[in-house]
Amino acid sequence: MVETSRSAAVAPCSRPMTRILAGSRCSCLAVWSLVGFILMIHFFTHIHRDDEEDVLVPLSHLSDIRELEEVEEVTFHFSPPRDRRSPRALKRKGPRKPPTVIDEFLDESSEVHAFFFPNRKTTFGPTKEGNNSMYFYPGRVWLDTDGNPIQAHGGGLLYDDRTETYYWYGENKDGPTYHAHRKSAARVDIIGVSCYSSKDLWMWTNEGIVLPGVETNVTHDLHKSNVLERPKVIYNDKTDQYVMWMHIDDANYTKAAVGVAVSDSPTGPFTYLYSMRPHGCESRDMTIFKDDDGKAFVIYSSEDNSELHIGPLTDDYLNVTRVMRRILVGRHREAPALFKHQGIYYMITSGCTGWAPNKALAHAAESIMGPWETMGNPCVGGNRVLRLTTFFSQSTFVAPLPGLPGSFVFMADRWNPSELKDSRYLWLPLTIGGLADEPLEYNFGFPHWSRVSIYWHKRWKLPEGWRTE
Ligand SMILES: *[C@@H]1O[C@H](CO)[C@@H](O)[C@H](O)[C@H]1NC(C)=O
Ligand SMILES: *[C@@H]1O[C@H](CO)[C@@H](O)[C@H](O)[C@H]1NC(C)=O
Ligand SMILES: *[C@@H]1O[C@H](CO)[C@@H](O)[C@H](O)[C@H]1NC(C)=O
Ligand SMILES: *[C@@H]1O[C@H](CO)[C@@H](O)[C@H](O)[C@H]1NC(C)=O
Repeated sequence: MVETSRSAAVAPCSRPMTRILAGSRCSCLAVWSLVGFILMIHFFTHIHRDDEEDVLVPLSHLSDIRELEEVEEVTFHFSPPRDRRSPRALKRKGPRKPPTVIDEFLDESSEVHAFFFPNRKTTFGPTKEGNNSMYFYPGRVWLDTDGNPIQAHGGGLLYDDRTETYYWYGENKDGPTYHAHRKSAARVDIIGVSCYSSKDLWMWTNEGIVLPGVETNVTHDLHKSNVLERPKVIYNDKTDQYVMWMHIDDANYTKAAVGVAVSDSPTGPFTYLYSMRPHGCESRDMTIFKDDDGKAFVIYSSEDNSELHIGPLTDDYLNVTRVMRRILVGRHREAPALFKHQGIYYMITSGCTGWAPNKALAHAAESIMGPWETMGNPCVGGNRVLRLTTFFSQSTFVAPLPGLPGSFVFMADRWNPSELKDSRYLWLPLTIGGLADEPLEYNFGFPHWSRVSIYWHKRWKLPEGWRTE
């Protein structure tokens, strides 16, 4: 993964702080007369930083970023759902509580479901629109260079410096969806981890399954009856190996472990090493993050998903060390996606509601080991329902755009539990800048962090100059 941060200095406010100073929110300075003096010093530091920033970012890029930040509104009207029960049941139990829009979204026979999972006629990709389109259509079926739907769910990107290529790793869920037990969640047997390659983040070539599931050996972690989720790959400069970490579980999610696999090549094959409970703790949704200095970290949902744990990996990236911190304790967050900008760490998480979508939260920290502060819902545009459901999706990764510091691609999954292989990808622009919009714990309500915004777009493309020269 490529880092965009150019400075390790702790500078929580980015460019738009200048705008805030000039704008209406200035009045808060008057209110905070006591701390005003200190804050002014604070501000001047930032203004100086901002000048620096403007010199470094070519002006032509700024208009392109504004395009990404355009707020797109969406309205949709659905006819109220029919009560499909028999007249007898209706008489016995009375009228049913009206289903929520999320119930409808999850109900494959509903109009709402069809709206959010547009059919195969609306696919996009190089074979459909030609290689020059470059438009992302969040939620539509995305085709690879062979014209097949991309199978890389719960995935993440790796930028490989040596081949100057992006690799997208994710779960191949191209099998039948079923329930292992009457009350258990929908699942697909392990097929393996898919890998796709691309130079432009839009046209993806299938590199095949780089870590396959195991058909016959029932005691193997990767036996098809188990669970393999959220694979992420980072490159280790010291050992010259590509290291994959993933969530390994049994069908009942009682194993709660991480698995580790390695390869000499980004396109595999990966050799599966082992699974373990990091720090002796349960680990379900997880991700790994490689910092600018080559230190890597694992972050995972633990203690019945009630908190996240974070800790550094060993230098070879094959194990955790003894150091671990509990963060967002009691907040019940999962699907963590970490990124960094100007020396500050950011994270997007989701709530824990199974396959059902819920509200995302953005978090920030000066040190990756915490303390982490919660900044509120990063979703902007669409409409209220879309914002409260992360646009009906769940975070999986945030990829920096190296040529546009402060701009990222937010990657999410719109899970379809009635047919998991038809789950969709939502890639949307994410920017860092402006005021955080929820009062924070440590700063007297004064926003210490820049806002993280994920903008809804029905159709968008990467701006010119998103790559580094
Ligand atoms: C699009 O790209 C693919 C893969 O690189 C190539 O095989 C195909 O010929 C290209 N099609 C057009 C119309 O350029
Ligand atoms: C099955 O998997 C287990 C665990 O990885 C391994 O120890 C064992 O050797 C495997 N058995 C066969 C027949 O490959
Ligand atoms: C999962 O739970 C079910 C029902 O409680 C049980 O029958 C089954 O053996 C369990 N499977 C595993 C792999 O633990
Ligand atoms: C990982 O490190 C722990 C100690 O921190 C050790 O007990 C464990 O055996 C190591 N695991 C592997 C697979 O090396």
